[in-house]
Amino acid sequence: MSATTVYLETFGCQMNELDSELVRGQLSTLGYTFSDNPDDAQVVLFNTCSVREHAESKVYSRLGIVGKRKLAGENILLGVLGCMAERDGLSLLQRYPQVDIMCGPGELDKLPSLIDAARRSEAATAAERTALAGNRTRRSAALSAVQDDLENLDLSRAFDPVVAGRSAFAAQVRITRGCNKFCTYCVVPNTRGAEVHRPPDHIIDECRKLADAGAIEITLLGQTVNHYRYEHGAAVTIDGREAAQIGPGLAAFRAAIPAGKRVTTFAQLLRRIHDEVPHIARLRFVTSYPRDFGRDILETMRDCPRICRYLHAPAQSGSDRILKLMNRGYTRGEYETFAAEALEILPDATIAGDFIVGFPTETDEDFEASCDMVRKLPFKNNFIFKYSPRPGTVAIDRFPDDISNELKKLRNNVLLNLQSETSARVHAAWVGRTVDVLIEEVCTQRDAQPIRGGVELRWERNANNSTDTSRATLRGRTAGDLIVSMDTPHGANANEFVGRIVPVLLQNSSALLMHGALIAHPATGHKSNVGTTSANTLVP
Ligand code: SAH
Ligand code: SF4
Ligand code: F3S
Repeated sequence: MSATTVYLETFGCQMNELDSELVRGQLSTLGYTFSDNPDDAQVVLFNTCSVREHAESKVYSRLGIVGKRKLAGENILLGVLGCMAERDGLSLLQRYPQVDIMCGPGELDKLPSLIDAARRSEAATAAERTALAGNRTRRSAALSAVQDDLENLDLSRAFDPVVAGRSAFAAQVRITRGCNKFCTYCVVPNTRGAEVHRPPDHIIDECRKLADAGAIEITLLGQTVNHYRYEHGAAVTIDGREAAQIGPGLAAFRAAIPAGKRVTTFAQLLRRIHDEVPHIARLRFVTSYPRDFGRDILETMRDCPRICRYLHAPAQSGSDRILKLMNRGYTRGEYETFAAEALEILPDATIAGDFIVGFPTETDEDFEASCDMVRKLPFKNNFIFKYSPRPGTVAIDRFPDDISNELKKLRNNVLLNLQSETSARVHAAWVGRTVDVLIEEVCTQRDAQPIRGGVELRWERNANNSTDTSRATLRGRTAGDLIVSMDTPHGANANEFVGRIVPVLLQNSSALLMHGALIAHPATGHKSNVGTTSANTLVP
């Protein structure tokens, strides 16, 4: 029997991308093959996001397409994975009979058996076809067992980038799962469950194996990544190994570490990874929570050169009244103190974030406070979202969605324009400097236009292994996440640069990106006539 082909499409955040990678590794080990074309697949999986309505509508339209194929007689197994499955629950199965299986983000270790059950018997019951946490992940008695299974999924990940379907040079590692913050607008605490912290040794081991397999950039993932804290000896598995554990409550997080307790803080975790896995050239982390951003973390970043000086710390609003309704737990002043301290300790750091416009009751004055913040703080970029009421959140029950879509759109555009001006200023300050750029892709730059946040570009990728890449543009990022484009040096093959860190003289800037020139390049030994002699000698 020929192998079963799977099409897996991912929506949503980096956490979901990592989940898809783990699913892919897991199913590959079992003999499934993967295709980029849904028409070739017998198993179609959508790993979904529920954070805004728009994210869900994309998936509903995909479900419609697969539904038509099934009605036309094609034998396809359709699975909805991720946050939408968890949020919609069984009602999705009822509304979309073409959906065969559903698997929440906390249950992905059970996916192979769900697929198996559904393929073996068309009569599989709804219970046999769904794995959802429901309220279970918030019930502490069941928590350790549930999360341990998930920990095993992370532990069994495929390190070969081809099997995992990820880029060879960049990888992500989860350090916490779930979220306990309950911002009133947000579905994540419901879909991902309680905040669980992974043991530091598991994380470091994973980073080491990824680095051994060729990753030079590792991004640590968590919804509030800087709130990582692991208490040793508090949770162990039956065979005595350290286990994932529930994150501390706010009081415990803020309190001094009690005598006799051994704790690994986020700063200590960063330092351990930096020191113990020296072949990681870039260590990143997202997303930071602006509240309680410890000075110890900033000082560790200052002392460890391979930790990227990039802070993605969403402010969400500049109005204290709205921040309170959002349950963010900080004021604008506290955010500004955090930003000032970060820039004092790390003058080269870039700060980025997210804003929501049109949160219920947002007045012109509240909105102006967000605008003012974007004008005054040196945000490299901000992703700006229109408030989207989400079922299951506190906000949808407590606050009517009283800002019209027109006004949300208008505020979104105004804030985007302000952010563009701020981004242009931040970028301009880098012109004339030489920076290390990790080249991520080769592209023909047809049109560079802002999508979200004024920083994402639309690129037309160069076909893989195309023979004439000499006129293509190289695109990469600095440690501070500035997007840099540059021409391929004359006579060089652009593809050879991908996955390398090269020195670049930044020459021009816009709101969207920087343009620079490679000072010298390792692929052909070419030396360009820009830049300084000392920079030329940087190249191995
Ligand atoms: N854990 C991260 C964010 C996760 S969701 C943090 O706390 O910063 C990513 C972003 O989506 C959020 O920062 C927020 O700006 C946006 N978002 C979340 N829920 C939303 C909603 N209901 N409507 C609009 N934007 C939302
Ligand atoms: Fe959502 Fe807030 Fe948790 Fe971020 S911190 S995931 S916005 S609840
Ligand atoms: Fe979306 Fe779930 Fe991530 S809701 S943003 S996929 S945690």
